[in-house]
Amino acid sequence: MKATVLVSGGAGFIGSHVTVELVQAGYDVVIADNMSNCDETNYRGVCSILGKELPFVRMDFCDKEAVRNLFAKYPIDAVIHFAAFKAVGESVTNPLKYYSNNLESFINLLEVAVEKGGCNVLFSSSATVYGEPEKLPVTEESPRMPATSSYGNTKQMCEDILRDSVAAYPGIKGIALRYFNPIGAHPSALIGELPRGVPNNLVPFITQTAAGIRECLSIFGDDYPTPDGTCQRDYIDIVDLAKAHVAAVTRMLKDKMEAGYEIFNVGTGRPVSVMELVKAFEKVNHLKLNYRIAPRRPGDVTAIWADPAKANEKLGWKAERSIEETLESAWAWEKHIRNIK
Ligand code: UD1
Repeated sequence: MKATVLVSGGAGFIGSHVTVELVQAGYDVVIADNMSNCDETNYRGVCSILGKELPFVRMDFCDKEAVRNLFAKYPIDAVIHFAAFKAVGESVTNPLKYYSNNLESFINLLEVAVEKGGCNVLFSSSATVYGEPEKLPVTEESPRMPATSSYGNTKQMCEDILRDSVAAYPGIKGIALRYFNPIGAHPSALIGELPRGVPNNLVPFITQTAAGIRECLSIFGDDYPTPDGTCQRDYIDIVDLAKAHVAAVTRMLKDKMEAGYEIFNVGTGRPVSVMELVKAFEKVNHLKLNYRIAPRRPGDVTAIWADPAKANEKLGWKAERSIEETLESAWAWEKHIRNIK
């Protein structure tokens, strides 16, 4: 019998790509989303790619009764929890919004899982937990640094909530995946990132600038102690990232875990600077981007990239798409949603 995976936040950027890969790997998927930060575009795209409608429940994980009803209705074997607010800046100006939503939704999910006698829970964490690392690349053993935003703090707290729940409640198993910088879109260009308003993240800002929606990209700082003075990140292709989730869920369901709670970095191991990324985008898509050097953005770390060896070895997963393919897919997606030929 096929296992059923609940994907909370499944209509969003990462959730939609993970749903596609799960179904293509043979899992049944139930999507649950409150649509607070997206429209139906990605859900529709997922159904088009897969050629079928998937069960979709519009609900909020802060509503515990709704979570109970969901678990009563579907035979859920594993949950991948994406449903959360994710705007770093907003989390600093409105921390309570982030603490109440991101923590309550996750706690509700775990409480209902405990009521049901257990569940495999995959939590969507972030490299933000490493802060400004002293040693690069970062391994899962690298120290977590005090979070610089409430968003980052909710990621750390949810990791701890999952770790402690695994230790306390029989039947709960957990994996936290720490993503580096997910970018790009599905090769079909039917699903991708759809930020509301002015994008905070680099690649959506680049594609919107190329599309003429934004006038000019600001490169935040060129005086960092890096080879070209701009910050370095580990940009991970969204489809590669999605495949790491399939590998992690399969590890849980097949009882291959070495501990009840495990953490994996999901990155390429390759640092890319902002300037390198901009140049690669221009080259692969044959266009010129309007950009300027601007002051540093407060809160940015100088450089961070992953040591993905643990995920490579234990999950049997490796990032495969080149940065060029990924940047091509990001532009193909932007053109698709803006009707650019
Ligand atoms: C941020 C969050 C991370 C979150 C991720 C989502 C922090 C410290 N970082 O990562 O937790 O998971 O977003 O993808 O909480 N840049 C520009 N111009 C722009 C936008 C960005 O130069 O208009 C630069 C930034 O200075 C940075 C790089 O591009 O060096 C990447 O920025 P961004 O895409 O926002 O991701 P992070 O800040 O790394």
